[in-house]
Amino acid sequence: MDSDTVTTLVRKTPPEHLRERMRGAYRGTGYSLADHGQRVAGVALVIAAEWGFTSASNATFLEDLRLAGEFHDIGKITVAEDVRLSTTTFNDAERRVMERHTEFGAAILREAGMPEAVIDAALYHHVRYAGGGYPDTMLSGDAIPFSARIIAVADYFVARTEDRPHRAGHPVAEVWADLLENRGVWFDPHIVDTFERTAFLDEARRAGCVPDPSRFIGGFGYNRSNGIAA
Ligand SMILES: [Fe+2]
Ligand SMILES: [Fe+2]
Repeated sequence: MDSDTVTTLVRKTPPEHLRERMRGAYRGTGYSLADHGQRVAGVALVIAAEWGFTSASNATFLEDLRLAGEFHDIGKITVAEDVRLSTTTFNDAERRVMERHTEFGAAILREAGMPEAVIDAALYHHVRYAGGGYPDTMLSGDAIPFSARIIAVADYFVARTEDRPHRAGHPVAEVWADLLENRGVWFDPHIVDTFERTAFLDEARRAGCVPDPSRFIGGFGYNRSNGIAA
C-alpha cells in the first residue's frame, strides 16, 4: 500500500454540513462563498498542473489543494452577519474581525480532520511572501506552506475579478497588472510566473473575462458543480 492510499484511508470525509454552512453564509446577497471557493480551487489546480503536478504522481497533494481552495474562507461563516454582509468599506474594528476568518477557518478545518495542507491554506492565505499580511506571523518566503502560497495567488485573482455584493468585478487586465506588481512582495514569484504560463490565464487576458477553470484541468476530475473529485 503506498503512502497516498494510506493517507486517503485515514482521512475523514469533509463534512457536508460545512459545505451547507458556506452555501448559506451569504444567501440572498447575490454572492456565494461556496462558488468563490470552487473558483479558487479551480485556479489553484490550473497553477498546480502547470507547475508539473499530475494526478498520477501527486494525487494526494492535488486533492488537498482542491479542498484548500474550496474551504480557504470557511472561517467567514463565524463572522457576525452585520460585518460579513456589510456593503461598505470595513472600519478598523470590522476589518480586524474579518481578518480572523483565517484563524477560525483553520480551527474549523482542524476539527473536521482535514489534511494539514488544507488547514495551512486557510490559516496563511493572506500572509505575504515578503512578510506581513495576516494573521500576524513570522513566516515569509518559502517558509509559508506551499498550499497557502498557491491559494494566495488563485484567491487574489478570483476575488478581484468576481462580482461582490457591493461592487462589480475588476477587469482581468487590471487585476493581472496588480498581481504582477506584487510578484515577490505579496506573492511567491515562481507561482506568479507559473500562472502566467497557463493557457487559462492567456485566455482570460485575451477574452477579458475569466474562463471556467475546469476546462483546463479535466484530467484532475474536478467537478465545479458539486466540488467532488471524480
Ligand atoms: Fe480569505
Ligand atoms: Fe477567498
